[in-house]
Formats: sequence, structure tokens, C-alpha cells
Amino acid sequence: MATEPAQPTPAEPTPARAAGDSPVPPARAETAPLEKKDTGAAELIRFDKVVKRFGDNTVLDHLDFSVRKGEHVTLIGPSGSGKTTILRLLMTLEQVSEGVVWVDGEPLSHERRPDGSLKPASEKYQRQSRKKIGMVFQQFNLFPNMNVLRNITEAPVSALGVPKPEAEARARELLDLVGLGDKADAHPTQLSGGQQQRVAIARALAMKPDILLLDEVTSALDPELVAGVLDVLRDIARTTDITLLCVTHEMSFARDISDRVLMFDAGRIVESGPPSQIFGEPREERTREFLRAVL
Ligand SMILES: Nc1ncnc2c1ncn2[C@@H]1O[C@H](COP(=O)(O)OP(=O)(O)OP(=O)(O)O)[C@@H](O)[C@H]1O
Ligand SMILES: [Mg+2]
Repeated sequence: MATEPAQPTPAEPTPARAAGDSPVPPARAETAPLEKKDTGAAELIRFDKVVKRFGDNTVLDHLDFSVRKGEHVTLIGPSGSGKTTILRLLMTLEQVSEGVVWVDGEPLSHERRPDGSLKPASEKYQRQSRKKIGMVFQQFNLFPNMNVLRNITEAPVSALGVPKPEAEARARELLDLVGLGDKADAHPTQLSGGQQQRVAIARALAMKPDILLLDEVTSALDPELVAGVLDVLRDIARTTDITLLCVTHEMSFARDISDRVLMFDAGRIVESGPPSQIFGEPREERTREFLRAVL
């Protein structure tokens, strides 16, 4: 994991700040108009001129985008375009090089000083902030030494202080939701890849996140197991009000669940729009070329 320090954001000067302090970015309440105007839902995620470098490699280049509460946004684009990096910044597994990531009106990449200016967030602050966010990875990473139930209850009990009986009851509900009500006592090695991934989805939901990040969650699965996992996710998208930010190569799934698709290339958004436009009438040649290659 990269450990480069987050840099303060260059922005308009503010009075009474010490040399080296980062200025205060504009209040989030009055951010620029959002792309989707019909729902009236509030903004939940905002990337504000986010730059991410690994050494000399600029992976995200002054990236601006936002996601509304309850919106389902899919990121598509070629390998290396920065999609996973965006999700890892939201999980605070990586730190921004420049710019600020905001979640629910609060800075995630930074924390406020008493005078209101921002400084790179401490590990403790980030641990607190990322409780709102759950992530499911390509590799399911279940705890191999714990049964399915314990895999799901571990974090709510230890990180959120949920009483064990309550966490177990909720875990059983979630196992029913992902179609694994009979697997609570199984160990991960006794499950298929698709079943393990459904446990990983239940585990992420057990933290009651406002935001669920999905990073190519079916790409490590045998083809015949993909549909079951996508069905579970379609169900979650349809029946919950969770905000979804999803990286996928499953274009028909993206078309089904997305309110908006963002097409990435080289750390920039090439094009964004509803799935009907991106998949049906893409405006940019880069998008057409990418879709020709993957469809
Ligand atoms: N920890 C790291 N150290 C150095 N470079 C990294 C690191 N993580 C990612 N990169 C680089 O950042 C760029 C973007 O990577 P990222 O994983 O975000 O791409 P992606 O769009 O998710 O690609 P894929 O579709 O293959 O998963 C790549 O050039 C990658 O090599
Ligand atoms: Mg990736």
C-alpha cells in the first residue's frame, strides 16, 4: 500500500492561516450543480480535483465527480484507468496526492482543524469515517478460520459494538437475503466461489454502510456462478436505498442496475450518462472503441 502523504489542496486563500496550512475548500452545501436534477437527493460522495500519483505515474488527474444518496453509479473503462484506485481512496486504503474526497458533506481524505482549515486525515479519523462505507473485492478475503456466521458478525461486534445476539440475528437475515440461510455454520473452504462472494456481500452489508463499493466482484468466479451473485446484487439495488459505486465488466448488469455510467480512461472521465446513452448512443469515440472490445 502506498504511504505517500496527502497534500493540501491548492485553492483560494483564506484569511488567518499559518504558512503551510491548507485553505478551506468551499462549503459542500453550495457545491456545483449536480448532473441528475430530477431526484432531489443529496450528494453523498464528491471527488474534488482529486489527483492520485504512484511515483511519477499520475493515475487520477484532477478528477471531479459526485454521487447522490441512493444513486447507483457504475465505473467502466480499460485496465489501468484508475477505477480500483477510486474505490480504494473511498475505503481509505490509499491517500490522495492532491484534492479532497468528501462523504456526506464531511471530508474523508482530510480532517478539519479547529479553525476550519483542512489537514490530511489521521488514521484514527479515517477509521471512523469509513464505517459508512463497505467494499466487496474481486477476491472475497473471508476469514478462513471463522465460520460463515462469525465472518459476518465479527466487524459489527468488534468495530461497532453491536451485541452478539443482535449481530447474529442480523447476520442470519443477511444470509437469507443472499440465499445462504443454511450455510451459517459452514467454513469458507466448504463453499463455492459464488457462495463465498455472497458471504462477502452479506459481511459488507452487516456494517449497515451508506455506500457499497463493488470492485469486479464476479471476475474471479467460474462463469456458471456469476449469475447467482449478480442476482443478489440486483436484488440489493432494487430493494435497499444503499448508494452503489460499482466497477464491473458485466455490461448487461451495469445496464440493469445503473442510474449513471462513468466511462474512464487514463484517470479521467471520458463520458458519463445514463446506461441507455453510454451503451446505446455513446458520444465519444473512446467509449465506442472500449465497448466494441468488451461487448
Ligand atoms: N499500489 C500501487 N502502486 C503503484 N502503482 C499502482 C498501485 N495501485 C495501482 N497502481 C497503478 O495505478 C493505475 C490504475 O490502477 P487501477 O488498479 O486503479 O486500475 P483499474 O482501472 O482498476 O484497472 P483494472 O481494470 O485492470 O482493474 C495502474 O497504472 C496501476 O499500475
Ligand atoms: Mg481494478
